[in-house]
Amino acid sequence: MAMAHAELWFVDLEKASGALDALEAAKPRLSDVDNARFAAMTDGAARRNRRLAHIALRVLLERRCGPSIRGVPFAVGASGKPALACTNVTFSLAHTAASALIAISDAGLVGVDLEHARKVKIPSARRAPIERAAIALAAGVPLAEGDPDTRFLSAWVRIEAVAKATGSGVGPFLERLRPRRASKEEEGLAGAKGSSTVVAHDLTVAPGLLGAVALVPGQSLPPVRHLPEKAAALAALVSEGEGER
Ligand SMILES: CC(C)(COP(=O)(O)OP(=O)(O)OC[C@H]1O[C@@H](n2cnc3c(N)ncnc32)[C@H](O)[C@@H]1OP(=O)(O)O)[C@@H](O)C(=O)NCCC(=O)NCCS
Repeated sequence: MAMAHAELWFVDLEKASGALDALEAAKPRLSDVDNARFAAMTDGAARRNRRLAHIALRVLLERRCGPSIRGVPFAVGASGKPALACTNVTFSLAHTAASALIAISDAGLVGVDLEHARKVKIPSARRAPIERAAIALAAGVPLAEGDPDTRFLSAWVRIEAVAKATGSGVGPFLERLRPRRASKEEEGLAGAKGSSTVVAHDLTVAPGLLGAVALVPGQSLPPVRHLPEKAAALAALVSEGEGER
């Protein structure tokens, strides 16, 4: 069965923790680099959630790439974007508290971001150019009306998704959109469009969560699937990949 270009997976890390722990215990997939990085995290809950998110990521990658990727560290680019030597497969991971969003694609660049709806302390002068840029990045699709903080965060996740797809990071992009550089906004927006190797799409992920994915233009938006939370269902999902490869 050919892959439908991109897959989007939501993971409730709390609910899937038993299944993910069991899978990792049975067949370790994390790399030594991953484990060392998690071990260095001082916040226990963050460490646990990060580890679970990475087990989920590696389980989903294995469906496409096969078991030879087990334990293989990601190559990390200058900008921090992780990659794996697995032909034609790209991926992106976002996590917030006990939720993760994972994209796996064989159709080129892909990026995801996920944020909890919350109060945001950012002055409106700073928000406006970010929100305009986020609309441009989604080929003109307006942001959801309503609560200004939700609106800003839905702009933010679009921008992060694009920055993560291209691997450039969000820093240089935001720098061009700072109000004191108002005259550069056109340049910033042009840069955003010029780099439109990807288009941002809003995602309905779960209540209280704002998500976005950046996909190559013309690619249809895949549904957000929920990673199975029972060990047997999760194991079945992995072996389903064996038939597809
Ligand atoms: C890292 C970054 C891409 C996402 O950060 P975030 O929203 O805090 O975290 P998310 O959960 O959404 O994403 C983190 C994951 O993105 C991936 N990632 C990290 N750097 C990446 C990059 N440059 N490109 C694409 N993906 C990246 C990793 O898989 C990471 O997960 P891990 O740390 O568990 O391995 C973002 O902060 C960024 O652009 N950083 C670059 C530096 C920068 O621009 N700083 C200025 C911030 S204002």
